Amino acid sequence: MLLGIGAVGAFLAVDLGAVAYANDWIGTRLTRQAFIDRFQSISGVHPGFRRNHAKGVAVTGHFDSNGDGAELSGAAVFAEGTSPVVGRFSLSGGNPVVADTSAATRGLGLAIGFPGLHQWRTAMVNLPVFPVNSPEGFLAQLLASKPDPSTGKPDPVAMANFLAAHPETAAATKVIKQHPPTPGFADSTFSSLNTFYFVSGSGVRTPVRWSFVPRQTALPTAKQGDDILFDALVEQLKAGPLRWDLHLVVGNPDDPVDPTLPWPADRRVINAGELVLDTVQTEAPGNARDVNFDPLVLPEGIEPSDDPILSARSAVYAASYRARTGEPKSPSAIQVDEVAP
Ligand code: HEM
Repeated sequence: MLLGIGAVGAFLAVDLGAVAYANDWIGTRLTRQAFIDRFQSISGVHPGFRRNHAKGVAVTGHFDSNGDGAELSGAAVFAEGTSPVVGRFSLSGGNPVVADTSAATRGLGLAIGFPGLHQWRTAMVNLPVFPVNSPEGFLAQLLASKPDPSTGKPDPVAMANFLAAHPETAAATKVIKQHPPTPGFADSTFSSLNTFYFVSGSGVRTPVRWSFVPRQTALPTAKQGDDILFDALVEQLKAGPLRWDLHLVVGNPDDPVDPTLPWPADRRVINAGELVLDTVQTEAPGNARDVNFDPLVLPEGIEPSDDPILSARSAVYAASYRARTGEPKSPSAIQVDEVAP
């Protein structure tokens, strides 16, 4: 009898899941297509490119775990040893030829470990907190920041209305302003911002946010033009490996999951090892161009929190991935072979 009820419940769960999928719902009102349409209405349609973080460059390297992360998580990647890494540096926005500016948010996507059950994917940015705390807020912020065709800048009234309706964004913006961007990609700290649970071998769950903290300064390029941040990164990577320490920030059970809210600065930090990036390539078939850095592709030992942004990200990244991989793509702005030396 109980088994029967369980079976019906399981069937309903699967069935409702299938209906939700068919209707394309993320939440009660939002669809993944609504996000795709919004990105495209702001940045135009650029077939073959990511609908957000469209400008980027592919990298590879490895992660050397020192074993200290195993205290928190049973994931294979935290056992002492080396895992291969495929990654991508990017700038936010849906324009694949946008001019590099220090104000544009910088991204780093990483797939750590061989493809399969043990791989850990993460897409991080160089901000201390995220500006919004819901998928609805993300969509509303995109609309408010759409440039007015007559001025080329966001409509100040629309932005003021958005901030009045979203005090969490106004507060997060203050925190972001206190952490101005560093000169380049190489000296940027890239953070998860969303909260996850690390699950130890004995089943203990700990809230964690992580950051990759740079071990070098960024060397400027002598070049001028629209690609100065990427040119500097490519030149520095061609000259030698770049390194980041992985800091696992250990949360208290009542620390906020809301990514607009920073955690107290005194939280314990475990340095779990070193990320070493040593090759850089133009986006091309077979490299990070073809990876979906879905933040819910997690190995056993890392679990998502109930932050609603995570499931929205997963759904929208999949829609962007499906669209772009089915389209012809023009060459990427950053042609690594054309960046000397
Ligand atoms: C509701 C919130 C968000 C939406 C709708 C969204 C949407 C997207 C989309 C459509 C892509 C392109 C995916 C692809 O084609 O592979 C993307 C890429 C990316 N996003 Fe988000 N995003 C959100 C939140 C975030 C957050 C919180 C972070 C960081 C903490 C982030 C960091 C990145 C990065 C680094 C990439 C580029 C990854 C790559 O190189 O493929 N995003 N985002």
